[in-house]
Amino acid sequence: MSSAVAESPTKVLTDRINRIEVSATMAITAEALKMKSQGIDLADFGAGEPHFSTPQHIKDAAIKAIQNNFTRYTAVAGIPEVRKAIVDRHAADFGTNYAVEECVFSAGGKLSIFNVAEVLIDHGDEVIIPVPYWVSYKDIVEFVGGVPVFVQTAEADNFRVTVEMIEAAITPKTKAIILNTPSNPSGAVLPADDLYAIVRLAHKRGIYVLLDECYVYLSFNGDAVSGASVLEAKEHVLVLGSLSKTYAMTGWRAGFALGPKQIISAMSKLQSQSTSNTASMVQRASIAALTASQDCVKEMRADYVKLRDRVLEGFKSIPGLTCTKPEGAFYVYPNISAFIGKGGIKSAADLAAKLLSDAHVVTVPGEAFGTKEHIRLSYAVSQDVIDKGVERLRDYLGKLN
Ligand SMILES: Cc1ncc(COP(=O)(O)O)c(C=O)c1O
Repeated sequence: MSSAVAESPTKVLTDRINRIEVSATMAITAEALKMKSQGIDLADFGAGEPHFSTPQHIKDAAIKAIQNNFTRYTAVAGIPEVRKAIVDRHAADFGTNYAVEECVFSAGGKLSIFNVAEVLIDHGDEVIIPVPYWVSYKDIVEFVGGVPVFVQTAEADNFRVTVEMIEAAITPKTKAIILNTPSNPSGAVLPADDLYAIVRLAHKRGIYVLLDECYVYLSFNGDAVSGASVLEAKEHVLVLGSLSKTYAMTGWRAGFALGPKQIISAMSKLQSQSTSNTASMVQRASIAALTASQDCVKEMRADYVKLRDRVLEGFKSIPGLTCTKPEGAFYVYPNISAFIGKGGIKSAADLAAKLLSDAHVVTVPGEAFGTKEHIRLSYAVSQDVIDKGVERLRDYLGKLN
């Protein structure tokens, strides 16, 4: 037998896995969990998830599904009933006309975004991403070999991207644009006319618009708006939806995509070789969420508005901290540039680290979202946590001033 030794060491990890980072929000959550397990009392504004429990009727539907032994594999793209519930909900709320075959149900909105990137983005394809952006867009695009093209929005204009900004970023290599309104991290909401104008522009130029509608029902001023309502652009529109935030279902892993049949079928094919179907009982629970009264969503939204106002009121008592007024989602994105250069703090990442270790306040540094002068706080927490956290911020930042 040959005992030849390989001449060059075998490379362990692929280039594509080395192109991406661990999700920054997940990394902060892990550190915060560690501190909590040591008995440290944190004011935790880190994790982007509702503090509400999943509504009872949704939990009951899952329990009933298990008791009825609805526990086997299902169709990869989801049972027809859940796909119908998704397309009907979207049609009722936004006037869209998707067929069941134009819908795939996945284990979370993040997986829908990942799968659509896998089937649409080739090596070298450019994807326009407005800044600040949700952490995962950059890494997902880079993982599949695409090139993120960042478009800076103006804080003075509440971080809203405009059709002119998008148009200026388009090149012959542009394959897609990712839009997220209301936005994580800034809470910015695109006015309907601006959103529709971007969708029309993309359609005219043969570019796909990936509409991340994770927070679409958490819009505070007026009705929720979907870019998919521009029906003439349907062939270039992908709706990427999630039940996580709308129905306080983050742990269930329930998301979906709506779009042209060819793309949806490709996503389903990919899913057939990876996750297969989403958990069967989660599909039943999702039907209950989507088809029952939407009053629970309205109630949670009303609470988020109160919590947003409480944080912003608290911030007014912190000299040097400025903040745009979010119009949706459940995040504030204050500007912390007044504190950089003080107390050895060189960056937002430094400040977030100090806030965690010294003030026991969990935030996420703006670097994760593409800006260097902000930190993100999720206010999907109790009023008590807001009050405690604001007080700690005031004390800590006050000492830096
Ligand atoms: C903007 C945005 N899109 C998508 C997601 C994915 O949500 P999920 O995978 O829980 O459906 C999140 C979660 O934080 C988000 O903030």
